[in-house]
Amino acid sequence: MQILITGGAGLLGTRLAKAILARGSLTDGNGALRAVTKVTLFDIVAAAGVDDARVATVVGDVADAAAIAAVLTPQTDAVFHLAAVVSGQAEADFDLGMRINLDATRLLLERARANGNRPKFIFTSSVAAFGGKLPARVPDDYAPMPQSSYGVQKVAGELLVNEYGRRGFIDARVLRMPTVCVRPGAPNRAASSFASGIIREPLNGIEAICPVAPETVMWLASPTVAIANMIHGHEVDGAGFGSSRILSLPGLSVTVGEMAAALARVAGDATAARIAWQRDAAIERIVNSWPGDFITDRADALGFERDAGFDDIVRAYIAQELGGRLPA
Ligand SMILES: NC(=O)c1ccc[n+]([C@@H]2O[C@H](COP(=O)([O-])OP(=O)(O)OC[C@H]3O[C@@H](n4cnc5c(N)ncnc54)[C@H](O)[C@@H]3O)[C@@H](O)[C@H]2O)c1
Repeated sequence: MQILITGGAGLLGTRLAKAILARGSLTDGNGALRAVTKVTLFDIVAAAGVDDARVATVVGDVADAAAIAAVLTPQTDAVFHLAAVVSGQAEADFDLGMRINLDATRLLLERARANGNRPKFIFTSSVAAFGGKLPARVPDDYAPMPQSSYGVQKVAGELLVNEYGRRGFIDARVLRMPTVCVRPGAPNRAASSFASGIIREPLNGIEAICPVAPETVMWLASPTVAIANMIHGHEVDGAGFGSSRILSLPGLSVTVGEMAAALARVAGDATAARIAWQRDAAIERIVNSWPGDFITDRADALGFERDAGFDDIVRAYIAQELGGRLPA
């Protein structure tokens, strides 16, 4: 199996690559389990930290047709298309968001179509697909009405990927991912960046600003569950998706106040007191347009996972990223 991961230097791309390499085999389009022989990590910056003879690290722009033709070939069995500019950045730079989040998706799909080998194509969408007037729990068949440029670009990508699948050019799988939390490393330009920051920064002994009200409801998944579900999205029988290849993945529905309370339970009140509550209207406008809860019957029936609870997510972050060490 030859796998292409666009955005392969990002958080999910790097972790996905490691998980695929550790697993060693994946199911091809004919349902046969085959050894993974090559994982290409394509990104505008060089992927680091995935040392394996099966890995090819390629630096390039996902919106560059020649660069894509070099990495997406008739030998590519599966594409995980993760390259994107995140929500805050796509809102700040309309042209960049359209080019990377939409035009490049079409470019990849056209390349896959021209190759003619019907690769599996996994596209990661987002809760930002939804907005406007929403039910308390959003069902799978609810019409997306995004309220951000990023959300519009994701919905357009969802439909394109589904359509290229319907036409038989690819084996399409669109996964609407919950917000991944706790995200290690530095804050990013996603409007949801605070959701990880209010846990991560206090655990590192520094203050974090929470720009939304404690009542704000988030739809979350740990990095571990997000990666497991991306691989499951590749492995699961495509016929099980039914008439649409677009699927909302399971998550945890948690208020930001409950997240802070979980941090206090797991790491102590002094740690949780490092969260400074300072509302930011621009971030609230985007985050409050997203649903905080979904009905995921289809994904549940297909065997996708969800985290047990937010306390466990905090504990897993401490174990995996901090070596089990709590702040002094
Ligand atoms: N992390 C989340 O909470 C979350 C939730 C829902 C959906 N998603 C989606 O999952 C995917 C991966 O998310 P992530 O958290 O790993 O994000 P990330 O920002 O860590 O990774 C995205 C990668 O895309 C790369 N990229 C940006 N512009 C590029 C270009 N022109 N050419 C090539 N590469 C380019 C970046 O360098 C980065 O490494 C994205 O599509 C994102 O929209 C993420």
